[in-house]
This record gives sequence, C-alpha cells and structure tokens, in this order.
Amino acid sequence: MAHKNVENKDIIILGIESSCDDTSCAILKNGVLLSNCTANQSIHEQYGGVIPELASRDHQKNIVPVLTAALKKANVTLSQISAVAVTRGPGLSGSLLVGLSFAKSLSLALNIPLVEVNHMQGHILAHFIQEENQNIKQPSFPFLCLTVSGGHTQIVKITDHLSFELLAETEDDAVGEAFDKAAKILGLPYPGGPLIDKYAKLGDATKYKFPTPQLKTNNYSFSGVKTAFLYFIQEQTKLNANFIEENLNDICASYQAHLIKYLLKNLLTVSKETNIKQITIAGGVSANSGLRSELELLGNKHQWQTYIPKFEYCTDNAAMIAITGYYKFLEQEFCGLEIAPLARYEI
Ligand code: KG4
Ligand code: ZN
Repeated sequence: MAHKNVENKDIIILGIESSCDDTSCAILKNGVLLSNCTANQSIHEQYGGVIPELASRDHQKNIVPVLTAALKKANVTLSQISAVAVTRGPGLSGSLLVGLSFAKSLSLALNIPLVEVNHMQGHILAHFIQEENQNIKQPSFPFLCLTVSGGHTQIVKITDHLSFELLAETEDDAVGEAFDKAAKILGLPYPGGPLIDKYAKLGDATKYKFPTPQLKTNNYSFSGVKTAFLYFIQEQTKLNANFIEENLNDICASYQAHLIKYLLKNLLTVSKETNIKQITIAGGVSANSGLRSELELLGNKHQWQTYIPKFEYCTDNAAMIAITGYYKFLEQEFCGLEIAPLARYEI
C-alpha cells in the first residue's frame, strides 16, 4: 500500500499502548515527545490483580478520550500523523486487541503505515524519550538493561536501537509479581509494589531474612521467595495476630531489600561477563526508590555509567511505544493489517 505521509518532512508518530491495564496514547514529533496521556484502571484494586475481561472493556471505553487528549495536548491533528505505532505484545490478548484494532483502523482510515512494537523493547527504549527543551543523558551502545515489570524480569544486551539480545530472565514469576503478591499477603491493594516501596522507606531493612535461590545460570527465580514470604507471615501471625500491623515497615523494607540485592547480584555478574559498564533499568519496578538508589551505589563502586528513566516512563506508557515506533519508522519497518496480538512475544 502506498502511504501518503512517508515523504513528509516532519515525522509525527502516534504511539498506542494497551497491553495490560493502562490505556495510553502519545505523540512524538521528529523524536521529541509532545504528549503522553494515560488512563489508569482503578477497578482492579478491589480484586488484588488485573481481571483481563474488565481491562479490555475499560480500554474500549478509554481509548478515544485518551487519543483526543494526547492530540489536544500536542496540538496535532489526525491528518498530520505520519504513522501509528502500537503494542503487539507481550500482554493480555483482550487488552492488546483493543489497541491493535484501533491502530489498524486509524492506519486504514488515514492511509498511514502501521508499526508493531514489542512492549519490552519499548520499556528499554524509554531511555531515548526526548522531551521538548530537555536534553536527557542517553546510554551508548552496547548497554545492558535490567527490565523489571509485572510480567518480566530480564537482563538484555542492546547493540543498537533495534537489536536486543536476551542474556538472562526469570524462570518462573516476575519480580513485579513478587512485590504484588507479597503486598496482597500483607492485605495491601493491587498493585502493591508502590506501597511496599512507600512503607520500606520507614523500616529496618536488616530485620528479617529471606532465602536466595541458587541457580547455576544468571537467570532469576522468584516463586521460592514468594512462598517463603507467605510461610513467614503465616507463622508470625500465628504467634502474634497483630504482627503485620506492628511490623509493616520493617517487613516491607526487609523484603524489598532482599529482592533488590538479588536483582543486582545477577546484573553485576552479567556486567562482568560481558564487560559492559553502561547499565540501565526499565519497566514498572524500575520506579522503585530502593532499586534506583542501590543501582547508583553499585554503579559508583564498579565505575558503571547508570541510566534510570523518569518515573512516568518506568510504568506502562505510550511514549515508549512511540519512540520505538519512531526508530522502526526510520528503518521503514512497517507491518500489514493482518497481524494479530501476541500474548507471548520474545524480545
Ligand atoms: O511495566 P509495568 O507498568 O507493567 C507491566 O508491563 O507489567 O509494571 C507493573 C509492575 C507492578 O508489578 C507494580 O507493582 C510494579 O511494576 N511497580 C513497583 C513500583 N511501581 C510499580 N514495584 C516496586 N516499587 C515501585 N515503586
Ligand atoms: Zn510494562
């Protein structure tokens, strides 16, 4: 299909993200972010996790108002858009389907190219989101990224904007789940990661100890520590019914410190093995204040150059999809309208 806007001087990318429970649209002009609007779904809080059917229904309700807000904030009209970039996966099929179908209809109606984006690549390329009148420090190639989210825990080697090599990953749960499930055990609402972070700031991180899995590779495993946490809380509440209330800050601080130590231990090993000292973190859990400060400390010790995304680009957002779409657009990596969402999508 011949697309009318490919030769336009300004490259204006519309990014769309709907892989889980955030509906987000962003506008990027010549690599600079003009807007990034997100609707969060509070409906899942009461269930202690994302309910896929409810998530896709809310995406359907939110996507047009979110797009309208993003266009308005960017002062851009639909007719000016050069291409639409959309998350194809990994994620919840029903959620992905809403964003992808919407992107396809825009591509068809506006006669502009469709660019499919891997959500995990998007998290990593969040390091290249450039805002107006702001020069951010960007990693140079090759760099490593510890990608930590609700569904993934990976160490990835990046050799250029579109070349990713998976060096390590979790063999079971993601670290975000380890945060969220512990929070649920503590009676906190979903998503519990930010709350554990909040209470951890007030607690003693050395008070309680948890086991570290001994794998022979640089991969991670979080299911054991999650179970150990459950048993620990069950035992302690048998002895003292008020154990959680009386020790919430120390429990959160100790558990969070344990997870961070484990994440950074393998990252250090991979850095030594690859001799790469450009180190980045990405994904929802990279918003964690403890992880951010411990990474800086470890980086100082090992002469790393460390890069941490702004808070709003750690959790799911369309700006990261738009920037990934921009690099793919430069390479003319477009896709056809026949593509389907991929609930699992290797990086
Ligand atoms: O990347 P993301 O927004 O969605 C996925 O792609 O999964 O990550 C969501 C995860 C959730 O598990 C949430 O609890 C966690 O990121 N998270 C945090 C913090 N902020 C978000 N975990 C720990 N500390 C935080 N401050
Ligand atoms: Zn994500």
